[in-house]
Amino acid sequence: MRNTPQDRPDIRTVIAERVSRRGFLLGSGAALGAVAAQGFVGSLFSGAAHAQDAASSLMFSELTRVFDDNHHVADGYDARVVVGWGDPMKAGDGPIDVGTMTAAQQADRFGYNCDYVAYMPLPRGSQTSDHGLLCVNNEYVSANVMFPGMTEDDVPTMLTAEQVAICNMAIGHSVVEIKRVDGVWGVVQDSAMNRRFTLETEFAISGPVAGHDWMKTSYDPTGTKVRGTNYNCGGGVTPWGTVLTCEEGASDTFGGDIATTAFPEVLERYGFDGSDYYARAKFDPRFDISKEPNEPNRFDWVVEIDPYDPTSTPVKRTALGRMAHEAATTVLNKDGRVVVYMGDDDYFEYVYRFVSESIYDPANPASGKDLLDAGTLSVAVYNADGTMNWLPMVQGTGPLTVENGFASQADVLLKTRLAADALGATPMDRPEDMETNPVTGRVYAIMTKNKKMSADKLNSVNTRPENFWGHIVEMIPPGGVGADADHTADSYTWDLFVLAGNPKDPATGSTFHPATTDNGWFVTPDNLTFDPKGRMFVATDGANDFDIPDGVYGVDTEGAARGLPKLLFTCPMGAEATGPCFTPDGTTLFVSVQHPAEDSATLEDLTTRWPDFTGTNLPRPAVVAITRQDGMEVAS
Ligand code: FEO
Ligand code: CA
Ligand code: CA
Ligand code: CA
Repeated sequence: MRNTPQDRPDIRTVIAERVSRRGFLLGSGAALGAVAAQGFVGSLFSGAAHAQDAASSLMFSELTRVFDDNHHVADGYDARVVVGWGDPMKAGDGPIDVGTMTAAQQADRFGYNCDYVAYMPLPRGSQTSDHGLLCVNNEYVSANVMFPGMTEDDVPTMLTAEQVAICNMAIGHSVVEIKRVDGVWGVVQDSAMNRRFTLETEFAISGPVAGHDWMKTSYDPTGTKVRGTNYNCGGGVTPWGTVLTCEEGASDTFGGDIATTAFPEVLERYGFDGSDYYARAKFDPRFDISKEPNEPNRFDWVVEIDPYDPTSTPVKRTALGRMAHEAATTVLNKDGRVVVYMGDDDYFEYVYRFVSESIYDPANPASGKDLLDAGTLSVAVYNADGTMNWLPMVQGTGPLTVENGFASQADVLLKTRLAADALGATPMDRPEDMETNPVTGRVYAIMTKNKKMSADKLNSVNTRPENFWGHIVEMIPPGGVGADADHTADSYTWDLFVLAGNPKDPATGSTFHPATTDNGWFVTPDNLTFDPKGRMFVATDGANDFDIPDGVYGVDTEGAARGLPKLLFTCPMGAEATGPCFTPDGTTLFVSVQHPAEDSATLEDLTTRWPDFTGTNLPRPAVVAITRQDGMEVAS
């Protein structure tokens, strides 16, 4: 999701509100109730349960935070750029000044605002950790630091047709072959597998919504193919070696009046306001809802890409629901069904799960083809007693009836949010990434923050009014540990893993381990991954509002140091850390440094020229590889 200036609390506002909340906490029964609600989890981290000096299993010297124009990594580690905005991906292309790049050049070069990263080993099916495909989402563009003379507010009115075309070619997804030689990762520029997906690439539409009347446009009267993908945020990797890239909310990318459509209440529920922030509708009528009313229905899906086959057609899998998809984490359940966990990243949205109807057979990778087209989508309800239920979203059951506007399963999926409302799902503090710990089988869901939360809307799993700091929910499937966990069960138990925030500020209600240092606490978690040993690595998005850099923190989830974060890496000013991803052997941690310098008013007043620092270059979002200088496993 693009963080608009309105989304970012001014730090002075944050501090003022913290101060006033201290008084509020002392005097308000409602707020004390909220603290009590988190108390059963807080008790895990306080008092005698953990020694102050509990040893982290993460073997590195914690980085000291420096909030400046460069990235930083812990002593004994390197963090080198592997590939960044505008880098060549085709034989014969050379380096380029991204400030002079045309749309045609951008179409063949690495995209902007790198987000999710999947490392896909080469050859396919291997566990190779020095040669693979780096599959990277390019979420959106930060036009105020790409083009001269425009603030964020100027973008919709100042972008020219050529600049809009550059933006449209800079988003989507990039696949690049990479190799590690003498410990350093580099791009194989002439690889036939290097590929860009943009707002002009053709995608197939599959699953229950394919061919629905609401999906038909003048470009595609069949409702089965669509040009482009947009706001590709998080993602996932399937057991059969494809990549899921998630469309996270196309609402601000369309112009026109939703009242002219047959489904204004649906577009309103999905946030479409005709703002046309990137001036796409101004130059292309397909982004004008008044002219092409069904086009918005063709975004906000999970897209499956086969990176190993450069001729393959990517597919939007509608069975996984329509929402601001943050990510799509897959688990091969012990019975062979494939489970996908997904968060809908917007205020008070929900947590979802998909369970495939058919079984995946690892001995026959072809059995994964179209497996994600049939199955059951469910939405989460968290109960105050520490249990949770997955409510199936099946047409004809419960409130999902013809009378309520759900005439088919396609209707349920096109209106996923409305169906989840009807089922009474639990509204969350902006669900971002979800991941499963491969060692324990427990599932973690990040709630990044929710400044709109108020005392009257709190629930047992979202416990803080004006949650500026975010938290991580732990979900425990029944059936056993690791591979024995049953990710298809109707009910799990849950816990609050950590409430983020500065532990020295009691107003945050932070529940990090008591041994957490001044460098180790974090705010606004967004993405996470696990290393081969099952240690969590969290990437943050929004820490700059607290005058600290965004970065990557290792966190134990088990043992005496459970909930103890340690700082490994920080971003330059304006950038978030995202897309953390390990090689199978754990020796490299890839991280996207997204939107460096985005906090700058304009290109003429940059907070950083990361990563090139030539004196005149533009800042460039880029993927870095974090490696130990001795080549051994990270944090081990
Ligand atoms: Fe694109 Fe939810 O961050
Ligand atoms: Ca982002
Ligand atoms: Ca994100
Ligand atoms: Ca985010």
